[in-house]
Amino acid sequence: MAFLPSFIDDVIARNPIEDVVGQYVALKRQGGNLFGLCPFHGEKTASFSVAPEKGIFYCFGCHKGGGVINFIMEIENLSYPDSVRYLAKRAGLEAPEDEQYQSRYRKQERLWSLSKEAARFFCGQLYAPAGAAGLAYAQKRRLSKNTLTKFGIGFAPNAWSGLLDAMKRKGYTEEELLEAGLAVKSAKGAVYDRFRNRLMFPIIDVRGNVIGFGGRVMDDSTPKYLNSPETLIFNKRKNLFALNLAKKSKQGRIILVEGYMDAIALHQFGFDCAVASLGTSLTEEHAALLSRYTDQVVLIYDGDAAGQNATQRAIPMLEKTGVQVKVLRMRGAKDPDEFLNKYGADRFKLLLEESENRVEYQLRAIERKYDLKSDEQRVRFLQEAAEFLATLSNAVQREVYGVRAAEAAGITYEAMKLEVQKAYKRRVNREKKKQEKIDLAPAAAQQPKPRSMRYTNIRSAMAEEGVISMALREPALLDLAGNLPAAYFSSELLGKVFRQLLLRYQQGLSVTLGALEDVTPEEASHLAAVAQKQQFPVSEQAMQDCIATIRQEYAKSHADSSDALMALREKMRERKGYQP
Ligand code: UTP
Ligand code: MN
Repeated sequence: MAFLPSFIDDVIARNPIEDVVGQYVALKRQGGNLFGLCPFHGEKTASFSVAPEKGIFYCFGCHKGGGVINFIMEIENLSYPDSVRYLAKRAGLEAPEDEQYQSRYRKQERLWSLSKEAARFFCGQLYAPAGAAGLAYAQKRRLSKNTLTKFGIGFAPNAWSGLLDAMKRKGYTEEELLEAGLAVKSAKGAVYDRFRNRLMFPIIDVRGNVIGFGGRVMDDSTPKYLNSPETLIFNKRKNLFALNLAKKSKQGRIILVEGYMDAIALHQFGFDCAVASLGTSLTEEHAALLSRYTDQVVLIYDGDAAGQNATQRAIPMLEKTGVQVKVLRMRGAKDPDEFLNKYGADRFKLLLEESENRVEYQLRAIERKYDLKSDEQRVRFLQEAAEFLATLSNAVQREVYGVRAAEAAGITYEAMKLEVQKAYKRRVNREKKKQEKIDLAPAAAQQPKPRSMRYTNIRSAMAEEGVISMALREPALLDLAGNLPAAYFSSELLGKVFRQLLLRYQQGLSVTLGALEDVTPEEASHLAAVAQKQQFPVSEQAMQDCIATIRQEYAKSHADSSDALMALREKMRERKGYQP
């Protein structure tokens, strides 16, 4: 639903960005800005800025930015309206809500409470006579009493309507059980329990809501694990099993495994930082979520080809968010659960300590591709390893791993070093050429990062940025731009923003980026970057210059086409029988 602009203004005014951001990031004042470590990407020096007067944040490192609402959207993983509600609540304001929202929110709350009730029911069943087989299976899998409680593990009885009947008695409808993914409807219209005769693992999100379940069979039938379908409250691309527990860990890392049982066994053996992906490969959303809680992720995937592929895909995704990635190679057992039960926690700790960083891991992956007993293959290994080592920007790293690769191939380090140096020089040259190209076209440096926002007319776009940047700092300067049509802007985005800011100014609303509507996170980030650029002075003269430039560029770009435009207009007139 759309909130009234005046309500959005209230929400923004009552939530000073430095206070809100300050709850997540330690900020230090530096001139007119506050600086801190960016919560959206890992960094050691503060490039994350907050400009209280402009009401914006902007990271000079990862280029995320926007107003206070954008900040909450990013950090709390909420939609725009939910972020507004979140901030309204924070400031003690009551959000005016329409029917549609109220019914959606009420439904979510119903499904959360239904899922919590269902989890309670399954727990109860585990210790009831109907759950004897489940409890026996849990014991066979060596799950301790404490673990069963901590994870809320339960049992779905071997019946068609065990849960249905119990939940109906508590006032939930069949419709609601279907919507929560707890019941299924047959082709003939019969409604029955989705989970039957399975050991049940509730999936709990970071806010503590039960959002879904995984259920394991107790024999070899399939599917081995049955998971909740996607529902209004469950999205497996955005949630990780056990993160609700692991986020409180003091172990300084998160261990990411494939299976429910692996995560659970790790917790039971004292590794309380383990989480599992929910039967999908790691997504960008997972990576972003993890980076919010830790600086280091240890990947433990199965040793098979599928596991290796999953690892190769996960590494860059995680590194992009700034977390350090380590890879643990399972040895002596199929997965962590089996390993721990076979060898114990101390042996596992050794594996963990030995886990390889990304460089070691990738070097070893290259090594495995070649038969190092064959001379010809050794040469090829050498070349590929050198090519890879040359991508490392750190000279010490190049040397350390160069020695390792040379040893593996049974050649002298001198030979290896030469090869790496050659590859490194080739690389540096390539980069230099690329940079020269960029330097030769300085306009390119001014371009927004996403392709969809690229400026078509740099000269005009710079003036348009100027108008917006000045308007944000000194709204009264908009008086000078009152006659400038937004259609003259060469950048669609900047034109849209100009139109909205001008309208807000004329209606006596706040002239802030944070209050704009229909702005995507990418657009908000780019606009925050524009607002943080230091190159625009704020003065009437500067405003007039920018306006003049926009008008000139518009006239120029429309001069050549004006004849064609006239012709087109004539044609339209004819076709529609249109009389002016
Ligand atoms: P595994 O078969 O490796 O699971 O599948 P596991 O945890 O080792 O299972 P146990 O030890 O035999 O009990 C790894 C993960 O893949 C998903 C589940 O999330 C599981 O934990 N999976 C697997 C499914 O979703 N469905 C399946 O049928 C099998
Ligand atoms: Mn297993």
